[in-house]
Amino acid sequence: MKPTMDERTTGRIYDRFSVVYDRTFGRLVQRRQRIAIEQLGLKSGDRVLDLGVGTGLTIPMYPEDVTVVGLDLSWGMLEEARRRALESGRKAWVVQADALQPPLAPRSFDHVLITHVISVVSDPPRLLRHAAELLKPGGRIVLLNHFRAEDGPMASFEKAINPLTTRIGWRSDLSLAESLDGVPLEIEKRVQLRRWDLWKIVVLRHARPPGRST
Ligand SMILES: C[S@@+](CC[C@H](N)C(=O)[O-])C[C@H]1O[C@@H](n2cnc3c(N)ncnc32)[C@H](O)[C@@H]1O
Repeated sequence: MKPTMDERTTGRIYDRFSVVYDRTFGRLVQRRQRIAIEQLGLKSGDRVLDLGVGTGLTIPMYPEDVTVVGLDLSWGMLEEARRRALESGRKAWVVQADALQPPLAPRSFDHVLITHVISVVSDPPRLLRHAAELLKPGGRIVLLNHFRAEDGPMASFEKAINPLTTRIGWRSDLSLAESLDGVPLEIEKRVQLRRWDLWKIVVLRHARPPGRST
């Protein structure tokens, strides 16, 4: 299937959006981001990868005794993230790169956070396969995102508005099943936010080989 997003356009959209991001979408998402970070179950000394860190709204939410690497495509978004990293006093670094080709060593992070990014990339399963490679054994990947309903009128609506949402930088028609297609990860937990919340938190771990229950 032809991808509906492409990284070059996305980088440009978010460079422009960076100027108003914190005052618009960014105002709506911080409660959910805090809940997503709680799901990482961080311990002192952990190294966390924040994939698609954006303007770094999450950076001050991390405990002071963990190290955070924030990766993003957009220079504009990263400039804000860099400022936030300095002001927050956190051990946080930012890297400009494409999460679909991350220049990072395999198994180099205890946990990975991906908030509002999976529906923005051209190849969601590829993003998750890379995240799985970068994750140490036993680590968690926490996804916070909108996923379309699997069926029914809401699914039809979310598919119908997709041509509009892609123009402003995200896909409304991405399902969780599509995101996980062929990805060596399994769902550990789904966290229910408010009843009608369109965003979901999903906690993922490396898939166990067939026949192993621990
Ligand atoms: C909606 S923003 C979310 C930012 C932040 N995670 C948050 O929750 O506020 C999506 C971010 O993903 C970044 N992004 C999109 N595609 C990317 C890719 N292929 N690699 C790295 N970052 C990407 C965009 O530049 C943007 O900063």
